[in-house]
Amino acid sequence: MSISANRALANAASYHCGIKHSTSPSVSQPVIKRGYTADTAVQTSTSTKTPRKEVPPAEPWRRHASPDEHTPTVFTFFEKATSTWQYIVVDPHTQEAVVIDPVLDFDPNSGNISTQTADGLLSFIDHNGLTVRRIMETHAHADHLTAAQYFKQQLGGDIPVCIGQRITQVQQTFAPVYGLDQPDAFDKTFDVYFKDDEEFKLGELSCRVIHLPGHTPDHVGYLIGKAVFTGDSIFNPDVGTARVDFPGGNAEHLYKSMQRLLSLPEDYRLFVGHDYPKNRDQTCWSTVTEQRVRNAHIKLGTDEAQFIEWRKSRDAVLGAPRLLHPSLQVNIRAGKLPPKDEKGRLFFKIPVKSEVDL
Ligand SMILES: [Fe+2]
Repeated sequence: MSISANRALANAASYHCGIKHSTSPSVSQPVIKRGYTADTAVQTSTSTKTPRKEVPPAEPWRRHASPDEHTPTVFTFFEKATSTWQYIVVDPHTQEAVVIDPVLDFDPNSGNISTQTADGLLSFIDHNGLTVRRIMETHAHADHLTAAQYFKQQLGGDIPVCIGQRITQVQQTFAPVYGLDQPDAFDKTFDVYFKDDEEFKLGELSCRVIHLPGHTPDHVGYLIGKAVFTGDSIFNPDVGTARVDFPGGNAEHLYKSMQRLLSLPEDYRLFVGHDYPKNRDQTCWSTVTEQRVRNAHIKLGTDEAQFIEWRKSRDAVLGAPRLLHPSLQVNIRAGKLPPKDEKGRLFFKIPVKSEVDL
């Protein structure tokens, strides 16, 4: 199934992607999914961690020092196979951390799933004495598999895997596509479903969830001090913007989400979910000012209607992401692999549309 076909499916599923902003952001504790209990197959306490693979710590691309008492120190890791930025975000006061959008390695030709990338990050966490409080996803990625569940398992089994609340819409769209029809298919997957503008603490830092739909309907960003983790709601200025032909994707929503980002104070740093550099080294961030002036698709003054028309026409000629089907089957279940069949075998499914009945 092409991503365009998926879009048609999503339209039939009547997505609700409205942007909601509460007038008085609330401070709350994590919303633990009703009925959630730690997986009995893994340790249930951070004090009794699962023994780790002995691997060298991953080398961050950069350590971005905290510029003030409200902003985290950010360690940035580039996963080259899928051009994905992974973030370890640290409160410098307490050494408490969150992990954002970690990658699970997958080779579609051999079918091999491996944890080399994740193990490097876990080793980095250990070597630096960090205490991970949350594993956070910005959205249901269609181009790489999340290592969220592996992190949870390796970190003791009770670190919540968090995502925006509209992931349930994405799950409802894709459950029938991939035969995830069992009533319990999404039990014990995500632990926290963030509400729009929900706030939570990372050590002494305040974090806010920002709903940034457009690329996908569930997409959120995370605002911590002067750092914003944007996922795919905006890309570096010369790359511009992400596609919107995912089910529930919407160019108008993406434009509005980006305007919301561009309305932030000019020195805020936007840390993106991917980078696709041409004639330069990879980078993971730019300031709001740089985006306002230089974003290739939506710099200040860009006409909304023209952007929408251009974005739609561009997406119409893009091929499906290379890891689309494996990614979605794993990512809508918070990084859990598909249920095994009755003989214990593990498969990814590829929905097929054939012009002929053979
Ligand atoms: Fe994405």
